[in-house]
Amino acid sequence: MIKYTIKNEGAQKVETRAERTDAAELVRRWVIPGESRVYVLTFGCQQNEADGERLLGLALSLGYGRADSPEEAELILVNTCAIREHAELKALSIIGGFKHVKEKNPRVIIGVCGCMAAEPHRVEDLKRRYPYVSFTLEPAKIASLPTLIAEVIRRKKRSFLLPDAPNVVPPIDEGIPVERLSRHKAWVSIMYGCNNFCTYCIVPYVRGRERSRASGEVLKEIEGLVASGVKEITLLGQNVNSYRSDCDFSELVKRIGEIPGEFRLRFMTSHPKDVSDDLIACFAGTPHLAAQFHLPLQSGSDRILAKMNRHYDVARYLSIVERLRALDPAITLTSDVIVGFPGETEGDFQATLDLLTQVGFDSVYSFIYSPRRGTPAAEYTDQIPPDVSRERMRRLLDLQCEISAEKNRPLVGQTLRVLCDGPSPDGAPGMMTGRTEGGKLVHFPASDQTAGRFVNVRIDRADAFALRGTLIE
Ligand code: 5AD
Ligand code: SF4
Repeated sequence: MIKYTIKNEGAQKVETRAERTDAAELVRRWVIPGESRVYVLTFGCQQNEADGERLLGLALSLGYGRADSPEEAELILVNTCAIREHAELKALSIIGGFKHVKEKNPRVIIGVCGCMAAEPHRVEDLKRRYPYVSFTLEPAKIASLPTLIAEVIRRKKRSFLLPDAPNVVPPIDEGIPVERLSRHKAWVSIMYGCNNFCTYCIVPYVRGRERSRASGEVLKEIEGLVASGVKEITLLGQNVNSYRSDCDFSELVKRIGEIPGEFRLRFMTSHPKDVSDDLIACFAGTPHLAAQFHLPLQSGSDRILAKMNRHYDVARYLSIVERLRALDPAITLTSDVIVGFPGETEGDFQATLDLLTQVGFDSVYSFIYSPRRGTPAAEYTDQIPPDVSRERMRRLLDLQCEISAEKNRPLVGQTLRVLCDGPSPDGAPGMMTGRTEGGKLVHFPASDQTAGRFVNVRIDRADAFALRGTLIE
């Protein structure tokens, strides 16, 4: 028996495995081979990209082909993000635009997936104001996609899944087909959900409690990917380093290090409170492990870190940085910072700037605090006026730009191993892009044959955001 509760405008029922199989059969009979196609539009983080690949894989397994645009699709899945308000408004506006697609073709089924589909107020809004949306499907329940499509076909009814109670740990559905969008890079989700409840963050509410995959499943998946020629594996989890099943995260990294073959291993996103000594020790030469660590700081003020419920202070953060650099002085360090968290004084903000200078991150992803309904910080009365946050953000970006440029400058003249991703996105003819071991973006002239291969590139120029170089045969 599968625990998921399906709510059809009114009636509720529990989905069994047999019902799920029947639903998939029904959809397969309904799909017109060569004609019915699916379009998945993904917003947000890498975890969502990985979920998007599973949604696509599931839809293809039901017989849909792949559409290049929503206009030519019969199944449109909007895989939304809820981390900041901007992401939600963008998704809602795009969903609004799909009204005409449904009007033109009544066979079109539109589903809203991703984190927004786990927010009760958004689900209610989609149900009331977007009648052409057939269902919502939260991230923890992707495997129910066939059932939801079948409900629309069978009863023309719209389905809205109820988010689980906060104490429920959703099951892990192994074996969902994945349609990977890259041939040489792959996301591997190793754990789902988050138990941390940072006061600003919606994730624990929309992605549920932490649960980790069995290490054997993870290793099997990675071995398969490496055998198929994948050159870069990124382990994913909202709190990747709190992975715990039959082994802990550092042990998992070591076991992946024993897999033969030519590939790079990365992981994200880590929480400073869960960075163990054993994990740090992995950077002393675990095979495949790239010398790169993304470690969100969020604020350089202990007072704000406590208000954010982050469970570490600046001293602890700095000690991790120090130990990582003691093992590998060249390790690339990147971070996330929130600007304008409620109650952030000029002094708190200055402490963040000072810490950025002290650590010297290679790059920083910075965000203006966005209140999320249902999180504690959204209720705080000391919200920062938007113009103050914007001004602080500008100062932070200016400072980090100088720091990143300074970090990249010494790379000029060095020859670095680069995994080539493909042609430059700016379309410059003959230019390819790739990433160094540290994850830095490199542009270099080369043929299309270079895509998906490791090459050596001598760095000729460096600025804050990218490197330029020459291919060394
Ligand atoms: N407002 C702004 N930024 C946020 N983040 C998470 N929640 C919020 C929010 N409410 C940022 C954090 C996190 C990154 C993925 O997004 O910095 O590390
Ligand atoms: Fe959000 Fe904090 Fe969990 Fe990261 S650790 S997903 S910031 S609650």
